[in-house]
Amino acid sequence: MMIDWIKDVQMDPDCIIAMEKAADYCPVCEGIGMPCSISVHLCDDETIRRINAEYRGLDKSTDVLSFPSVLYPEGKTASDCPDLLRKEFDDETDSCFLGDIVISVPHCYAQAIEYGHSRVREAAYLLVHGICHLMGYDHMEESERNKMRKMEENILSSVVPDNTARSVVCVDTPDKQLIAAAYDAMKNSYSPYSHFPVGAALCTEDGKIFTGCNIENASFGVTNCAERTAVFKAVSEGYTHFTDIVITADHPSWPCGLCRQVMFEFSPGMTVWITAEGCGVQKKHLSELLPEGFGPNDLN
Ligand code: THU
Repeated sequence: MMIDWIKDVQMDPDCIIAMEKAADYCPVCEGIGMPCSISVHLCDDETIRRINAEYRGLDKSTDVLSFPSVLYPEGKTASDCPDLLRKEFDDETDSCFLGDIVISVPHCYAQAIEYGHSRVREAAYLLVHGICHLMGYDHMEESERNKMRKMEENILSSVVPDNTARSVVCVDTPDKQLIAAAYDAMKNSYSPYSHFPVGAALCTEDGKIFTGCNIENASFGVTNCAERTAVFKAVSEGYTHFTDIVITADHPSWPCGLCRQVMFEFSPGMTVWITAEGCGVQKKHLSELLPEGFGPNDLN
């Protein structure tokens, strides 16, 4: 992410480093396949109050303000609207301008104390929150709020060590129902050749669960992995936006390259969880499992 900084007020260097790293993850997790840019204005409480009054009619100071350059259709976010984004493409910077963010540095530092976490954590959170708005997310309705929080959490947990998302319960284990569904699917595994049963349970953005198991074949190359079975079942039912997948096997194992690519096609920002009986749960983001992945936007 290219950032045009306007620094009326200086911020701790480690805050800036974390903010730049967090900003880089935003388009990756969202699945925007083109370079993006934003402007970030770091100011004091009085300046943000003035901007808030002038542009939003709210005469009070706040922590962060965002002004998106793209007007997304209702319910859509940046990855759904490559054509709208392309209109914001600036040949000079060779990037798509998502909009402007204003952050009050004193407000950020005060909130870090209030929430009991580091300045770095709060600074990264505020910037990610602002960028999520620039990517079309909102928090007025409960369903959109959950979607936005999930995206913020996804981005931040890749960046900040104390990643307990503010005002969100940190999800350290996936939904119990999703784990149970993966174990259930594993029972149907058809794996007479490898004797390595695998189960997968995929959660869609609207909370629907699709499961899959590995299905082997005497012609070994025809074998389908559990993850792809689940994804193909979901896609064939019209569901293409996923938040999480839980994979179960005899021992914890990350998805193969083919499955990573298939998931990346639909939801590059999704979370992948692996587990096995008595082994606990491990989590990674798909963007970590398939960095710099090739996706639909690369073809435009
Ligand atoms: N397998 C999966 O189901 N998912 C993966 O990501 C890796 C491998 C299955 C395919 C095959 O049936 C067995 O594990 C051994 O490779």
